[in-house]
Amino acid sequence: MRGSLILSTASRPSPLPSPRLCPTDVGQGVSVLQTVEIRRSSGAQLNASTVLITGAARGIGLATAHWFYARGWRVALLDKDGPALARAMDQFSDAARVLALHHDVSQAAQVQDALARLEERFGRIDALINNAGVAVFKPILQTTFEDWLFVLATNLNGPFLCTQACAPLMQKTGGGSVVNIASISGLRASTLRVAYGTSKAALIHLTRQQATELGTVGIRVNCVAPGPVDTEMAKQVHTAAIRQDYHDVIPLGRYGTVEEIANAVGFLCSAEASYINGQVLAVDGGFDAAGVGLPTLRRDAAGDTG
Ligand SMILES: NC(=O)c1ccc[n+]([C@@H]2O[C@H](COP(=O)([O-])OP(=O)(O)OC[C@H]3O[C@@H](n4cnc5c(N)ncnc54)[C@H](O)[C@@H]3O)[C@@H](O)[C@H]2O)c1
Repeated sequence: MRGSLILSTASRPSPLPSPRLCPTDVGQGVSVLQTVEIRRSSGAQLNASTVLITGAARGIGLATAHWFYARGWRVALLDKDGPALARAMDQFSDAARVLALHHDVSQAAQVQDALARLEERFGRIDALINNAGVAVFKPILQTTFEDWLFVLATNLNGPFLCTQACAPLMQKTGGGSVVNIASISGLRASTLRVAYGTSKAALIHLTRQQATELGTVGIRVNCVAPGPVDTEMAKQVHTAAIRQDYHDVIPLGRYGTVEEIANAVGFLCSAEASYINGQVLAVDGGFDAAGVGLPTLRRDAAGDTG
């Protein structure tokens, strides 16, 4: 079942698939068709939309799992941290609609195994959220080759492997949506981020590559680039001084919440985003837009307008 999507002219459906608005491409609420479908199939909801979220045991991934679950989707939560995954699963009351996949996205065989289990259980996949990520923040000359390989294996190889594994199954039901979780560090260079920032910049380009080829078979691929969000990852790499610096340079003057990132991810998988493909959406309180916005000048401006 390994994805070997070699798209030739002959293999392309003709005409191009029309936007899939339902039942699988739901908006901010459950679509009418999906509601009908859910009512028809009590309990297991046989054809309900299905999403796979990697790194879903905590943080942004777990919040995203809640976003889809609250809107009637079946949710496969994949994570390499078994105990955290078990704790996350306890948060979902309808066991028929959730699936725990204890796997590592950087291992090709494990990704294949995860997809086989998902297909066996749910039979379809409509959205993939490549969220699993790791951060090593070190000065460039102290970043070892092992650090570099570790970060790229999860942050870049993971989305490559997961998307290749999911795309053929998505195609069987006419297409779907992929969202890659990059970072503001992939848009702007900074200190200590030679491996992390480079992996996220590469993921942004991978998004465009995937969108270009997979768009032809009805699979939209987009990217969310979060600014700082208060999660376990942020706690590990953001000191109190760094937190203050972020508050100073972000126009909204605060960290984002996991729910704010999940809202953007959900939107990109919804019918409302049906013509959005290959884009990077920074969800960062204006951090990227501010560019050289100097905190002192911004404070003065706020004083003038306040
Ligand atoms: N928190 C932030 O400030 C921030 C900012 C920008 C981007 N991001 C990105 O958002 C994503 C989620 O970050 P978070 O803050 O929720 O992190 P987190 O560390 O709280 O959660 C990440 C999850 O991914 C899992 N994971 C890591 N490597 C894995 C692998 N190889 N296979 C399977 N699962 C794996 C971890 O076990 C963990 O449960 C990451 O890609 C991260 O780079 C986070």
